[in-house]
Amino acid sequence: TRCQVAIIGAGPAGLTLAHMLARQGIDAVVIEARSEEYVRARVRAGVIENSTVDVLTDLGVADRLHREALVHNGFYLRFDRTTHHLDFHRFDGRHAYVYGQAQIVADLIDARKAAGLPLVFEASDVTIDGIDTATPEVSYTVDGRREHIVADVVAGCDGFHGISRTLLPADVRTLERVYPFAWLGILAHTTPVTEEGMYCAHPDGLSVHSMRGEHITRQYLQVPADTDLADWSDDRIWAELKHRSASDDHPELETGEIFDRSLAPLRSVVTERMQTGSLFLLGDAAHIVPPTGAKGLNLAVSDACVLSHALGQFYRSGDRSWLESYTDTALPRIWAAQNFSWTLTSILHRFTDDPFDEGLRRARLRRWASSDAEQQALGEVYVGLPFPTPW
Ligand code: FAD
Ligand code: DHB
Repeated sequence: TRCQVAIIGAGPAGLTLAHMLARQGIDAVVIEARSEEYVRARVRAGVIENSTVDVLTDLGVADRLHREALVHNGFYLRFDRTTHHLDFHRFDGRHAYVYGQAQIVADLIDARKAAGLPLVFEASDVTIDGIDTATPEVSYTVDGRREHIVADVVAGCDGFHGISRTLLPADVRTLERVYPFAWLGILAHTTPVTEEGMYCAHPDGLSVHSMRGEHITRQYLQVPADTDLADWSDDRIWAELKHRSASDDHPELETGEIFDRSLAPLRSVVTERMQTGSLFLLGDAAHIVPPTGAKGLNLAVSDACVLSHALGQFYRSGDRSWLESYTDTALPRIWAAQNFSWTLTSILHRFTDDPFDEGLRRARLRRWASSDAEQQALGEVYVGLPFPTPW
């Protein structure tokens, strides 16, 4: 079969790109390795920038989001047993939204199916050939049949463990920072103690207290990178969450049934060139941010904006220049989010026992808690920098 754009991966990057292309009359096929049930149930991100919500709203896929999302003005910061609220809304009227990534993905899948557009699940042995030609070919096996799609462009939206990023030429550098810890994340049937998410910068490590609804909490603990989930019983998780979030101004954390748990390593990665020939990388396939600050999903959507705009220009006028400059257009916003995520990671986690480092870290925490100027600067990035190009 022939199509204009072959999209590998039905995560946030691939699905939003597919909708943006459909809007412009560009035909695309989305090819996903996992089953639909698996993709719809995968628990991950939850904090969505105002900028991302604007795009999803514009695409007409945010009805449920606007009904169900929690709308937050900022977040809480707790250290020295004292809680501070950072209110970003007061500066520019924008919000952060709390709505699960699985819900966004489900909404995007529902909309694509309702439009009758091609979306293939459980595609195995996906291969991409001819990316140095104008007719790259994507092949995969589904229901025991080998299928072949010839496209103009392949959009690699298959995440950090996908195949797309392995196809970049060897001379393209991957810039990376690895952190010595991971986040142990849980979902629990408990009521949040604060109305908006909270980061607790405790001497024994970070804890994060977020939510997915009035009676569902999403919480994270900084743990060593080599942690084995099996070593963490429910009791141990609750004891540590309570210990790190202990305060003099709020009740103790509520405990309850934990119904999901996972471990995510922290790393920062940027692929310095996000394209080669007719292959373009988006989202986690091209870059990873540590979860602190909740930028990953939002970057996937911002890449989709840039590529969809470039493809629109190409198909309308034959002008390839936007495609050629895809990386250069996308990277500044990615680096801004990297800087934000790295800063939050450095300040909120405990890295060393060096008292000088600790002094610097605490000075910055106090500035964040007390300075309007600092809060405004944080807030600008937290609720989302403008997207680099109209899609
Ligand atoms: P993915 O969501 O990884 O999608 C890639 C898709 O490609 C998957 O469906 C995969 O099955 C498929 N695939 C893989 N290989 C192949 C193949 N060979 N062929 C076909 N398909 C393939 N981000 C935020 O913005 N806010 C947050 O609050 C936040 N919290 C997070 C918390 C945790 C614990 C974790 C792990 C991540 C968090 N993130 C957060 C990051 C966010 O989840 C990712 O950045 C986001 O999923 C990236 O989207 P994507 O579409 O690029 O990649
Ligand atoms: C959540 C995720 C994050 O990465 C973060 O920094 C805060 C909250 C969440 O899943 O709700």
